Amino acid sequence: MKRRYARSHRWRQARSIDELAAMARQRLPAFAWEYVSAGAEDERTLVDNRRAFQRWQWRPRTLVDLSEIDSRATLLGRECAMPLAIAPTGYNGMLWRNADIALARAAWRHEVPFTLSTVSCDSIEAVAAAVPEARLWFQLYPLRDAEATRDLIERARAAGAEALVVTTDAVVLGRREWDSRSYLSPRRLTPGHTLDALLHPRWAAQALWPDGLPTLGNLLKYLPAGQHSAASAASYIGQQMASDLSWDTLAEIRRHWPGKLIVKGILDAEDARRCRRLGADGVVVTNHGGRQLDGSPASLDCLPAIVDAVGRDLEILLDSGIRRGSDIAKALALGAHGVLSGRATLYGLALGGENGATHALGLLHEQLHNTLALLGRPRLAQLDRDCLGPPLHLSRPAIGGTVPSSPAPPVPGDLP
Ligand SMILES: Cc1cc2nc3c(=O)[nH]c(=O)nc-3n(C[C@H](O)[C@H](O)[C@H](O)COP(=O)(O)O)c2cc1C
Repeated sequence: MKRRYARSHRWRQARSIDELAAMARQRLPAFAWEYVSAGAEDERTLVDNRRAFQRWQWRPRTLVDLSEIDSRATLLGRECAMPLAIAPTGYNGMLWRNADIALARAAWRHEVPFTLSTVSCDSIEAVAAAVPEARLWFQLYPLRDAEATRDLIERARAAGAEALVVTTDAVVLGRREWDSRSYLSPRRLTPGHTLDALLHPRWAAQALWPDGLPTLGNLLKYLPAGQHSAASAASYIGQQMASDLSWDTLAEIRRHWPGKLIVKGILDAEDARRCRRLGADGVVVTNHGGRQLDGSPASLDCLPAIVDAVGRDLEILLDSGIRRGSDIAKALALGAHGVLSGRATLYGLALGGENGATHALGLLHEQLHNTLALLGRPRLAQLDRDCLGPPLHLSRPAIGGTVPSSPAPPVPGDLP
């Protein structure tokens, strides 16, 4: 019998994040699917983010006592159920009504932190009021308007956010061509995509009814009166991205923010050292899920050098390509303290809101447990580079379909 995944309404039966992704693709209109899943330009980095995990083989040990498997971790000094936080993602309301609140609830239920984006649909005050118990991190896009930036920081503090995550890699947006093909002008769907959206009534009833497309909740305060629509908010943020964002801006933010400060957008060890000198508490090693500079290396490939440079002093989180519990374990084996989940939890959200995102978190958690057991390392602290064999060379098929022969495998710890 042919192998196939269940239909999207049976998402509770999904066994993997890839299955959730396939189901989300069925449920969403093409423009929403492209918004979430697409990468920049030729999507080389998007693909490499997955291949980087596949390149590493495990070296399992046997005859180990597996009666207790423990995947509890500490992130930013507080315990959580596993070493994962939900990544900041903007405009989640395209997938589900009150999506940010749904994600925050899923994170709370699963005992992991949730990061709210500057360009979220639910405001930080709404999320904090709806899920007061959640571990809330706030992602900041520093704006050209310095007063508005300071106000966002103050609102994050007042809402009880324990960490400020400053994103540095999206000052200029990457060219997400598959996403932009859905539109005639930046905010007008092509006739074909409009028709396609109409052909997805279950999605429309959930995400659009009764108020239509949601706006950007955190930014309403800074928009002129009477111009609070999604389109006005999108045009505001387009004009407000601080293209002069610099180390001085970051130092200024450090002075204003008394809590934990994480810098998101680091791929280079020297940049990570500079974050340490500036007084940051952590970095996110990321290429923004392959949505920014196409051709930049997979985050996982950049991790060991950054761990060697600052791993003792800074909390190192990694994202881009996490789709399995074994990916979390590989990131930890290479020295990360934890990971962020972007699309993995969004696919669950798109299918079942809070319950769907909880299902995605549950899958990652079960798979992480299973990996620890099969690897013969029942505790996270046992994950280190000795768990991994030499990385394989998985070459991309060359144009024309032939795979070039593999060069000699490098020694462990030497990244391809
Ligand atoms: C739909 C979408 C929206 C995103 N919006 C933001 C954002 O507002 N701020 C930010 O710092 N990163 C944003 N990101 C990047 C994520 O925080 C994260 O780095 C990335 O999704 C990780 O890769 P993964 O999706 O493969 O897990 C976004 C990613 C996606 C997929």
